[in-house]
Amino acid sequence: MSYTVSQLLTQDITFQPIEIKGWVRTFRANRFIALNDGSTINNIQCVVDFENTDEALLKRITTGAAVHIKGDLVESQGKGQKVEIQVSSIVILGDSDPDEYPIQPKKHTFEFLRENAHLRTRTNTFSAVMRLRSSLSFAVHKYFNENGFYYMHTPIITGSDAEGAGEMFSVSSLDAKNPPLDDEGHVDYKQDFFGKETNLTVSGQLEAETYAMSLGKVYTFGPTFRAENSNTTRHLAEFWMIEPEVAFMDLAGNMDLAEDFMKSVLSYVLEHNREDLEFLETRLLNEEKTKPQAERSEMSLIEKIKFVVDNNFKRVSYTEAIDILRNCKPNKKKKFKYIIEEWGADLQSEHERFLVEKHFKCPVILFDYPANIKAFYMRLNEDGKTVRAMDILFPGIGEMVGGSQREERLEVLKEKMKALDIPEEELWWYLDLRKYGTAVHSGFGLGFERLVMFTTGMGNIRDVIPYPRTPQNAEF
Ligand code: 4AD
Ligand code: MG
Repeated sequence: MSYTVSQLLTQDITFQPIEIKGWVRTFRANRFIALNDGSTINNIQCVVDFENTDEALLKRITTGAAVHIKGDLVESQGKGQKVEIQVSSIVILGDSDPDEYPIQPKKHTFEFLRENAHLRTRTNTFSAVMRLRSSLSFAVHKYFNENGFYYMHTPIITGSDAEGAGEMFSVSSLDAKNPPLDDEGHVDYKQDFFGKETNLTVSGQLEAETYAMSLGKVYTFGPTFRAENSNTTRHLAEFWMIEPEVAFMDLAGNMDLAEDFMKSVLSYVLEHNREDLEFLETRLLNEEKTKPQAERSEMSLIEKIKFVVDNNFKRVSYTEAIDILRNCKPNKKKKFKYIIEEWGADLQSEHERFLVEKHFKCPVILFDYPANIKAFYMRLNEDGKTVRAMDILFPGIGEMVGGSQREERLEVLKEKMKALDIPEEELWWYLDLRKYGTAVHSGFGLGFERLVMFTTGMGNIRDVIPYPRTPQNAEF
């Protein structure tokens, strides 16, 4: 019978004839194959009877080759594994030239592996990261499914660019070299595919709101695009965002939901992805050893995840945060690049990281931000100057979640749009929600890759998505 490596290592099936297919990780002493098939971080040792094996065949057992092995699963004689395969037959399914294969059994830099992203999941680190990514997405759907949410597919091509979340990529089928022009000499999008200007979506929120106002509780989980030219370790031009939206829920309920949701998905991987997490924890420990003591983390990877699961997130208003920041050492000693002088300042990532990493030392939910640094759709507070916004900040990551209670009052929303020059014609359907049965509602957006970064301890967002899209880079 055919098995996966994971099955062979965990099920009680010794002394049975088995078959397995996988890729050779290493071949040692003409005898020991370490075989991996992606089902687990662990390899299975396959012992070749080299005296009775054709020499030409032995030469083809090279790192990277795909093989089909038949044999018996037996208790291992050697150290390091409980069982091993006594090989009775081996067929090379696909050769791999050892002089050319880029993934040698040695340490490669992440930069090198990014250039070989089509092969990098053949390493322990990237296979563990991508198994965790898969597991986390499953946990996301599981959480919402078990809590009465409907999964909604919001459009990827959008006709509204009013969200104001960032620069957009335009979608057009016009001839870029010779586009049709209108009387004023501007590109005439009436002649374009959709008869209007369209873009790739920066968020599914506005459409999700329409469904929340009929189905009650919905969420989206899909690709999101931002053409910001920010070349950082935390930004992608194409990333995946999870956006729940709930009718009759206020900002406090939104915070409760976000916290419960994150704890649930993290608990799921603690329970189901232990071996991958342990591997990544060791990797991180070794990486940290190369850093100065002061920069090393006090907690191991699994401890950090457990800490988030077991402790309440700290809820702090923007106003309180500004007080803390104004009086903190790095601000007074002008160590920040942007000095916090007064209420109303937009928080930069250096400030967010100070709050979570140095001051509170736990995830922080900041809420009630000044209206003028947040999006038009956020619910204005009674003070007339703050909105019911919340950002969740994570140690080592910064902003993980951005969300808010939405402005449900038609007149207030219209005024806000007018002040920001957002044409009503463009969002007539969004305004309709406030005309017909409007109600308090809230939601948030969580950047999935930032969650994967936190869970895996990877330091660069390019290493937690299969094929990263960043400025000047769309290979593969
Ligand atoms: O804070 P943002 O811009 O919020 C929204 O888009 C709202 N419409 C969400 C909502 O209320 N439904 O983005 C949400 C999250 C951020 O907190 C961050 O984690 C992630 O999306 N994010 C990015 N992740 C990777 N690369 C980028 N360029 C990102 N921009 C935002
Ligand atoms: Mg944000």
